[in-house]
Amino acid sequence: MVAIFVAAVLEEYPDITLAYGYSDEYSFVFKKTSRFYQRRASKIQSLVASFFVSVYVTKWKEFFPQKELKYAPSFCSKVISCASVEVLQAYLAWRQRDCHTNNQYNTCLWMLVRSGKTKSEAHEILKGTQKQQKNELLFQQFGINYKMLPELFRQGSCLYKTKVEETVKHDENGNPIKRLRRRAILVHSENIAGKSFWNEQLSLHKDLGHFTVEVSSIERDYVRSFEFENRLLPLTWVVVRIDGCHFHRFSEVHEFEKPNDEKALKLMNSCAVAVLEEVQDIVFAYGVSDEYSFVLKKDSKFYNRHASKIVSSVVSFFTSTYVIRWREFFPHKELKYPPSFDGRAVCYPSYEILLDYMAWRQVDCHINNQYNTCFWMLVKSGKTKTEAQEYLKGTQTREKNELLRQQFGIEYNSLPLIFRMGSSVFRCKKQEAVKEEDGGTCKKAEEEVVTTTDHCNIIERCFWEEHPHILAA
Ligand code: GTP
Ligand code: MG
Repeated sequence: MVAIFVAAVLEEYPDITLAYGYSDEYSFVFKKTSRFYQRRASKIQSLVASFFVSVYVTKWKEFFPQKELKYAPSFCSKVISCASVEVLQAYLAWRQRDCHTNNQYNTCLWMLVRSGKTKSEAHEILKGTQKQQKNELLFQQFGINYKMLPELFRQGSCLYKTKVEETVKHDENGNPIKRLRRRAILVHSENIAGKSFWNEQLSLHKDLGHFTVEVSSIERDYVRSFEFENRLLPLTWVVVRIDGCHFHRFSEVHEFEKPNDEKALKLMNSCAVAVLEEVQDIVFAYGVSDEYSFVLKKDSKFYNRHASKIVSSVVSFFTSTYVIRWREFFPHKELKYPPSFDGRAVCYPSYEILLDYMAWRQVDCHINNQYNTCFWMLVKSGKTKTEAQEYLKGTQTREKNELLRQQFGIEYNSLPLIFRMGSSVFRCKKQEAVKEEDGGTCKKAEEEVVTTTDHCNIIERCFWEEHPHILAA
């Protein structure tokens, strides 16, 4: 089933030439000359993980019509830069060998468990066994010829782009007009890193390079040495900011209200609450429009502060929650295609700078919202978009407020706080007051921690002074 999601990823990103995966992992190989997002690793890895999970959740029902998706899945991703085509070849050989080793082990393990052994007994039996011994065990004890098991399990799945002829339209006589299109095809091959498989596929050696020798031995450490892990500086505030990818189009297609769609914003907020409930180390989140910033506590050890793991897990969890909860907020609107978000992590070395960052985002919210409110009021009143733009050029806050008041009778400051202030999500302690049995006086009882959404002013220092626990180290 996963192949369908992977094909969707390949269709979405033209620069991905090849994908290989098994179990719960997939590797996507970008062509050597790709300029996708200027090769910014964080953008690329977060987008791919986000889009993948988005398709996964969107298509879940097609594959499991009887099974409810019980919680929002997420995927971790990272970028591995292969210095040469030989490294890529060694990398692919390594992943496929892992597929084989894991599958053979798991097939034996589960056959033993089915035959009555406990899991630890089964592990004990398999300890130290070689490939050949495992095949023997399967054959002699269970009559299974390992080689006859489905290729999907033994070899994993490989998808690559190839040119196929497709009918794009018909001419006036009804004759089909065909064009060559790049499409993803799925294959299973015993050795995807082998010369014969690779060099036969035109797109692979054209986009990625030729394999000139066979991989003789797989050296895991050599391949892993190309995995660059960016660790976030210790004892700094880490902010993971996610942003909707092409939400200009997404909001048009889904007919979001202009300039602000309250339901869309509340869906974003609900996903942010889910993130805070999922990741205890995230202490605060601020969101506006299609973006959300998540602040990790200063001494967080989340994923050992590996930037790629933190960003991809947050962004993919947020995305899958967004898709799952869409119906709750838009019961009458179909989700037309899988949305995706990109993410990045930035370290802020001091409390002061962190507050400056938060203030910057809220100032941005204010400026954009005021501009957009004026812009859409002008457009709704009959101006073209260019005229409205021209009209607002160089205007200051006060002039915009005047315009809204005089022309449209709108008091800017009376517009909903969620639009003007954005949304903040944080935990606070709710003190349940209970009455003492003997008298009428109240005493403090249990403190329940609740995640709340508010639309407060986070530019003013008083918010932080009133809620010192949020950023307490
Ligand atoms: P990238 O982030 O670079 O991929 O582009 P983008 O299209 O997502 O634009 P950007 O993130 O700069 O801005 C977000 C866009 O989402 C806005 O410009 C709006 O077009 C749209 N958007 C966000 N929230 C709303 C909303 O509540 N209503 C409407 N109508 N549009 C919204
Ligand atoms: Mg965006």
